[in-house]
Amino acid sequence: LTSERYQVQRFPFAHVSDRDLSFFERLMPGRVMTDADELKPFNVDWLKTVRGCSKVLLKPRTTMEISEVLRYCSERNLAVNPQGGNTCLVGGSVPVFDEIILSTALMNQIISFDTVSGILVCQAGCILENLNQYLEQLDFIMPLDLAAKGSCHIGGNVATNAGGLRLLRYGSLRGTVLGLEVVLADGSILNCLTSLRKDNTGYDLKQLFIGSEGTLGIVTAVSILCPRKPKAVNLAFLGCPGFSQVLRTFTTCKGMLGEILSAYEFMDNECMKLVKGHLKLVNPVAESPFYILVETSGSNSVHDEEKLSNFLDHVMTSNLVTDGTLASDDKKIKMLWALRERITEALTCEGYVYKYDISLPVEKIYDLVTDMRTKLGRSAKNVVGYGHLGDGNLHLNITAESYSHSLLEAIEPYVYEWTSQYRGSISAEHGLGFKKKHFIHYSKPQEAVLLMQQFKAMLDPKGILNPYKTLPVKSE
Ligand code: FAD
Ligand code: MLT
Ligand code: ZN
Repeated sequence: LTSERYQVQRFPFAHVSDRDLSFFERLMPGRVMTDADELKPFNVDWLKTVRGCSKVLLKPRTTMEISEVLRYCSERNLAVNPQGGNTCLVGGSVPVFDEIILSTALMNQIISFDTVSGILVCQAGCILENLNQYLEQLDFIMPLDLAAKGSCHIGGNVATNAGGLRLLRYGSLRGTVLGLEVVLADGSILNCLTSLRKDNTGYDLKQLFIGSEGTLGIVTAVSILCPRKPKAVNLAFLGCPGFSQVLRTFTTCKGMLGEILSAYEFMDNECMKLVKGHLKLVNPVAESPFYILVETSGSNSVHDEEKLSNFLDHVMTSNLVTDGTLASDDKKIKMLWALRERITEALTCEGYVYKYDISLPVEKIYDLVTDMRTKLGRSAKNVVGYGHLGDGNLHLNITAESYSHSLLEAIEPYVYEWTSQYRGSISAEHGLGFKKKHFIHYSKPQEAVLLMQQFKAMLDPKGILNPYKTLPVKSE
């Protein structure tokens, strides 16, 4: 159990009683799960590294039902764990003890889409990929994309402020989310579900809930600005001889591809070995120390191809890139993206994964990987680096046959100290969840943490929403 490994004490919340179950059953008949076997997958995280022991999962369909549940839980002092697609990578989406799991799985209705403004309004439990498929028929796309798209919910994306593969082009959810409907801990409904590009009337409250990881309120509906579906997409998968060439290719590409650049991702050869070995994917280019994916999305294929071809000529003749392949058809594009997107999955085949998601000045990001490799030597099975290079976001992952406390102590807090010395972020996009909340001080000053704790106390005075997550409690 998570509580044993992490030595955490249960807060004095009430335990779910038969009377509570009857209340929930009356409120949402047939949508209260209590069977221990059925609850198992909801009690364990995607990485299978943290596990709670909730005995109840609720599946509301409406905002009103969530409001009733929270009003009741707040009165009864029952703790609640909001859950979307349960793809969280920092242990935020599963209970630590017996918190009630409040799933958004049935809140999956599209409310409206405006083809003039490109604004989508939908319930929080819509699966990202389903939203994208719906929009594609109308010649639009979602402004974010990530490998968990087939499972993650838009509410979960908002709650974690997920970044993903195209943040470089379409920006963060802090810009594209225009409005939210949120249910607060006491059950009150905050309707800020506006669809306006501009609205400077008072504080922008929705920002407080974006990235708050279910600790301040339950996101029930989202209004989001969606871009047009690009008419021409090209993807280049390129091999680079060293990290300095990866960086120089990036600056070249920003200059030469400019407005059509939609993704710049990198992975090292260790990652390539893992996706080849575990998932039987094929490396389409000559073996290289690093690989990059350069994607363009534009409105004129002739123009885009000409630009891309000039860029490729330039990086090949200047030896920044040693080999490459290009795709413009859907099938090959997906095949090339899989090499990058499925690294997360390949890593889990190795055993236990220690996952770090770091923002650093871009020229520093691979130094952390090489430094960790030297420091850990043979005590780690693998030390790999990949990520959203265009956003200065490194995914440093370390694997071992199984969990080892001594290996954890060799990695942490060293990795956070290293990050902090360059004023980096110890969580660029995955959040703090359960696993990283104690390290917030490496990226935020004490005054900021205190203010966050004050917000939490104001919005959730009993602390029933996702307890043990995101913020250290004042005494910790
Ligand atoms: P969950 O995992 O269910 O929950 C995440 C957190 O949000 C939890 O704290 C939960 O309590 C809270 N929460 C969920 N729904 C709500 C709600 N409606 N209201 C309030 N709180 C809520 N992240 C990135 O940023 N970029 C990536 O590229 C990326 N790639 C990934 C690839 C894979 C293979 C996987 C497994 C994960 C990846 N992630 C990535 C992690 C990322 O956080 C999630 O995939 C996604 O944003 C979480 O959505 P979810 O619906 O699964 O939320
Ligand atoms: C990614 O970019 O692939 C995701 O953030 C998941 C991960 O870090 O493994
Ligand atoms: Zn990522």
